[in-house]
Amino acid sequence: MPHNKNKIRKCLFPAAGYGTRFLPATKAIPKEMLPVLTKPLLQYGVEEALSAGMNNIAVVTGRGKRAIEDHFDISYELEHQIKGTSKDHYLAEIRDIIANCTFSYTRQMEMKGLGHAILSGEMLIGDEPFGVVLADDLCDNADGNSVLSQMAELYDKYGCSIVAVEEVPLDETYKYGVIAGENIEENVVRVSDMVEKPDPKDAPSNLAIIGRYILTPDIFDIIRETKPGKAGEIQITDALLAQAKQGNVIAYRFKGKRFDCGSVDGFVEATNYFYEKGYQL
Ligand code: G1P
Repeated sequence: MPHNKNKIRKCLFPAAGYGTRFLPATKAIPKEMLPVLTKPLLQYGVEEALSAGMNNIAVVTGRGKRAIEDHFDISYELEHQIKGTSKDHYLAEIRDIIANCTFSYTRQMEMKGLGHAILSGEMLIGDEPFGVVLADDLCDNADGNSVLSQMAELYDKYGCSIVAVEEVPLDETYKYGVIAGENIEENVVRVSDMVEKPDPKDAPSNLAIIGRYILTPDIFDIIRETKPGKAGEIQITDALLAQAKQGNVIAYRFKGKRFDCGSVDGFVEATNYFYEKGYQL
């Protein structure tokens, strides 16, 4: 079969952060493993990547994150215990993921920001476009079409980096990367400016980046040249601004719902939402 150069196969999951907002829960458990109902946040993200055709999963982890690798591996002991019992179906989804994805891991040795975390994944990604999912932004599908698959479709058309955005109240811009630009089609903006976590008075708009990106691989060289920015960290927003100045970044107002599971409020909201949507015990 001819290799489709444009097809995005890989998805990077930065998962090295400490999760301090969820202490003490995150003292010995990676924050990406906190469950919404019975499923860890990271598994939702991996399922979203798979739905977009990205089945090479690359995870940037750190110290104390081994539970992530164990989760995406076969547990022979458990399989043996529940095989043929009424509990067998509990493992169906994760088995399916393990059968359909490959996983690779690398560690971010120092916490120097999201841009730095993404650069740490370079060896796992190589020279091809890739998705990025920040698992604490939990997204629900719109009409069965996940946010990442909507973005992958857009990538087929534009072939450049893409950030997912949504409108936020102006007094919340300090929590996000914020973009400005010109509409080029419905829900698609050609980005001309982006600022990491601006005060409302400095925000170029109220369109905030959420944790879904498609990046072209030239981003790695750009990150290497990017100086520390907000909070003294190497910001992906700053690296993307360099691409945007070449006209090579678009922002997409996605269809669907997104929960900020990096905050307790958002986490509870997501839990209630998914429970009410029809949780099957
Ligand atoms: C990161 C990015 C920010 C983006 C946000 C989305 O910030 O730096 O630009 O808006 O993710 O969740 P963090 O939430 O990791 O501080």
